[in-house]
Amino acid sequence: MIRKCLFPAAGYGTRFLPATKSMPKEMLPVVDKPLIQYGVEEAMEAGMNNIGIVTGRGKRALADHFDVSYELEHQISGTSKEGLLKDIRRILNECTFSYTRQREMKGLGHAILTGETLIGREPFGVVLADDLCVGTGSGVLAQMARIYEKYRCCVVAIEEVPHEEVHKYGVIAGSELEDGVFLVSKMVEKPDPEEAPSNLAIIGRYILTPDIFDVIRNTPPGRNGEIQITDALQTQATKNMVLAYRFKGQRFDCGSVEGFVAATNFFFERWKDAHA
Ligand code: UTP
Repeated sequence: MIRKCLFPAAGYGTRFLPATKSMPKEMLPVVDKPLIQYGVEEAMEAGMNNIGIVTGRGKRALADHFDVSYELEHQISGTSKEGLLKDIRRILNECTFSYTRQREMKGLGHAILTGETLIGREPFGVVLADDLCVGTGSGVLAQMARIYEKYRCCVVAIEEVPHEEVHKYGVIAGSELEDGVFLVSKMVEKPDPEEAPSNLAIIGRYILTPDIFDVIRNTPPGRNGEIQITDALQTQATKNMVLAYRFKGQRFDCGSVEGFVAATNFFFERWKDAHA
């Protein structure tokens, strides 16, 4: 059973400036809930109740969100609004939260390595909260945890993207072991379309084994001068085994304005149904 989940959340979120000038991108609300809360709920559903968050400067709102607000509790206690805090209270009761800071933005691989102190020597999930996922049947992390239980190796979530968009993602090549599960032979970060090995793109969900930390430590900066988790996983795939899992469900790229608006429309329909 995987107990821990790491949330790298130190990025600047420049595509959402000026909204992200003093507020973390992960606190942007999709309807009535911040992005990070959707991610934490997905982790909880997968049984990962120890949450580690890699933050940076100007990200204190994240820690405040996952804490009790006494004044607010006092204000709305006994009123009809109390129900609005039901979900977040459940999270606070069932999860623990730990934080560490990434002082320099040296890439996602480096952010994950920064989280080593929160994870230790056990397998763990990774959620990039700006990829908002809606699983079919169960959440995407829960689906991936089942693949991990069977194969006991690193698992990345993938989805098919249009060929002209592969340059935005890590892209894999591999052979299909069973329906939707690929044994990775190659991984490339943000390839030019003509060099991409496929259109199977890695999205912001990973299950990693703790040996990945040593691999990241030995991974030189790659694309954009950043330490890339894709490069570390490419090493892991040649030394060991890495699987890519085509998840069942839908993903919204809430790091982009278009994806954020699509997610808002999707969850607004759900909100309307819940409030009808
Ligand atoms: P992005 O590539 O989306 O970068 O990072 P960003 O800074 O968040 O957003 P833009 O591109 O400037 O708009 C992918 C994920 O990796 C985390 C980010 O917080 C995000 O969840 N990340 C990235 C870090 O935590 N540290 C880094 O050094 C880089």
